Amino acid sequence: MQDMPSLRGRRVLLGITGGVAAYKTPELVRRLRAAQVAVRVVLSHNARQFVAAGALAAVGAEIVEDHAPGMVHIDLARWADAVLIAPATAHVLSRLAAGAADDLLTTLCLATEAPLCVAPAMNRIMWLNPATRANCTRLEERGVRFIGPGEGAQACGESGPGRMSEPDEILEALERLWAEAGALRATRAVVTAGATYEALDPARGFTNRSSGKMGYAVAAALAAHGAAVTLISGPTALPAPLGVRRIPVTSACEMRDAVWACRGAMDLFVAAAAVADYRPQTVLAHKLKKDADTLTVTLVRNPDILAEVAQLNPRPFTVGFAAETGDVEALARAKRARKGIDLIVANPIDEAGVGFAGDDNRVILIDEDRAVAWTTAPKTEIARALVREIIKRLPRTV
Ligand code: PMT
Repeated sequence: MQDMPSLRGRRVLLGITGGVAAYKTPELVRRLRAAQVAVRVVLSHNARQFVAAGALAAVGAEIVEDHAPGMVHIDLARWADAVLIAPATAHVLSRLAAGAADDLLTTLCLATEAPLCVAPAMNRIMWLNPATRANCTRLEERGVRFIGPGEGAQACGESGPGRMSEPDEILEALERLWAEAGALRATRAVVTAGATYEALDPARGFTNRSSGKMGYAVAAALAAHGAAVTLISGPTALPAPLGVRRIPVTSACEMRDAVWACRGAMDLFVAAAAVADYRPQTVLAHKLKKDADTLTVTLVRNPDILAEVAQLNPRPFTVGFAAETGDVEALARAKRARKGIDLIVANPIDEAGVGFAGDDNRVILIDEDRAVAWTTAPKTEIARALVREIIKRLPRTV
């Protein structure tokens, strides 16, 4: 086995849930132990149908019994450097997404601050079912890492996505997790996300279609690399990603003030928010009556938060997004130059399934030298890839 230095001395809490792929877990434990990882195992009730506790103990795991006395969920939650659920069934994914705490494994997942990794295993139709997709998206938005699943022949006789990753793939994913975890440890990042809302009267206002998903995914990916992340968010229903400090705001001016308050303590600024360029000149104290057939509202320019941050001296590494229609690349390239920022992520907002609101995006990454188009992918994946690109360019972390 190749040397995996960042695994040595780590502590993994392995949760095993009830799928056929549980048969791979003694080999997984053996590999982890060979890499000098301490392994404690929590078996779900159904997992015991597929793998014996004795087999896991024989290869060096410490088995934790569900009915162990005391605050065992808290002790385990604090002990673990990572919680890994392998195999993770559709059922446990749905319970985790709902925040269930009805057995030792789900309870300790709620109680831990350690990274949570899941290696799903299930029939391909179950994996592709919209209910499972929604649960996975919810978990990814909260910073849960998915290892696999792979594609291929399944125990049910079908073939497709849903096979649990092999033990060495899982070890490599853990190795990457800890190798990455420190990359931005000294970095203070500020991320804006979501739409702003510009009030016209107590009932109405101007906003746009941004859901916040792209910015939240970037915040989660930065936190996963160890950055201290402040997420300044317009109104959204999304939960704050794990380990991220969220400051809720409503209008562009509030967003600007919240960003400005961070200016002395910001190494990296990522502006994913769709900030309203204009706001009503006057916010009416009373609800506007519909007496006239037409209505004229005077709008005034909002501050350009990103351009202001790019003028700071010293200034943080600045990353903007560009929501464009038409010649997306050319427009974004010009916007990067005009705002004086390091990197711009252009995304079309006139194509179905990408840009605003959905789970996927299609982006072109543009810096001083070149533009690279990425294929359509989930926003969580794009965010992780973007963070890797930022790390390459950040002077202090190279
Ligand atoms: O939130 P989602 O539903 O996931 O959708 C994601 C997204 C499409 C909103 C996101 O990927 C995106 O493109 N965000 C930027 C949207 C936007 O406002 O683009 P813009 O081209 O108008 O602005 C350019 C850049 O300047 C952006 O980084 C923006 O945050 C920033 N800006 C704009 C105006 C302003 N007054 N202040 C700013 O900081």
